[in-house]
Amino acid sequence: MHTDFRRASVLPLLTLAVFSACSDSNAPDAPPPEKVEAALVRARNAAGALAPQLMGALGEALGAGGPVKALEVCQMRAPQIASAVGAEQQLEIGRTALRVRNPSNAADEWERGVLEDFAQRLTAGADANSLEAHSVEAQDGGWRVRWMRGIVLQPLCATCHGEELAPDLRAELARRYPSDQATGFKPGELRGAFTASVTIPRG
Ligand code: HEC
Repeated sequence: MHTDFRRASVLPLLTLAVFSACSDSNAPDAPPPEKVEAALVRARNAAGALAPQLMGALGEALGAGGPVKALEVCQMRAPQIASAVGAEQQLEIGRTALRVRNPSNAADEWERGVLEDFAQRLTAGADANSLEAHSVEAQDGGWRVRWMRGIVLQPLCATCHGEELAPDLRAELARRYPSDQATGFKPGELRGAFTASVTIPRG
């Protein structure tokens, strides 16, 4: 099951149309739907594996050393866990947001459009679990299926992303992430999203 996401799909579809018009006219201009569905299943599985692993690492770090120490674990472990899960499912997966802590998680144009839509839907009362989107883009040798799922702030997350941070934590954040934008969130707000990219080879 996936939620239709018309607005964010417009750009990639246009790209697809332009690309097809200029390339080999015998090549099909869209991947077989079953391949897209299989790519989406892999993306969902990857996010389904990543979320509890990140949560587990976070819980362990908080329990062992408190929030300041846990920052170090998040900084080191989050990208490692994401690349291990990505390798397992043969795709790329990470997290992004409109306001990021780590600049290397910054959203690109498509991701930004999806995140803005997720935020609007959430404000309008949508169920957090319904925040999912995908697009299909033509690329050399095939297609790229992109997929995102929203991440909503829970009370635990407010320790490091909330409105009132402990002074020692704030100082450590400023040291590790001088351009941190990922504070000031309230529970229930959109914190960001999982974002995955799967390649479908042509033929
Ligand atoms: C111990 C402090 C801490 C807690 C608690 C915490 N985070 Fe984070 N969060 C971080 C750090 C540090 C990063 C940057 C990781 C990196 O360098 O890639 C981060 C990054 C993120 C990102 C990636 C986008 C960005 O801003 O760079 C998302 C999404 C995110 N956190 C969501 C959550 C959610 C949801 C929770 C609660 C389940 C949570 N965080 C709890 C410290 C924390």
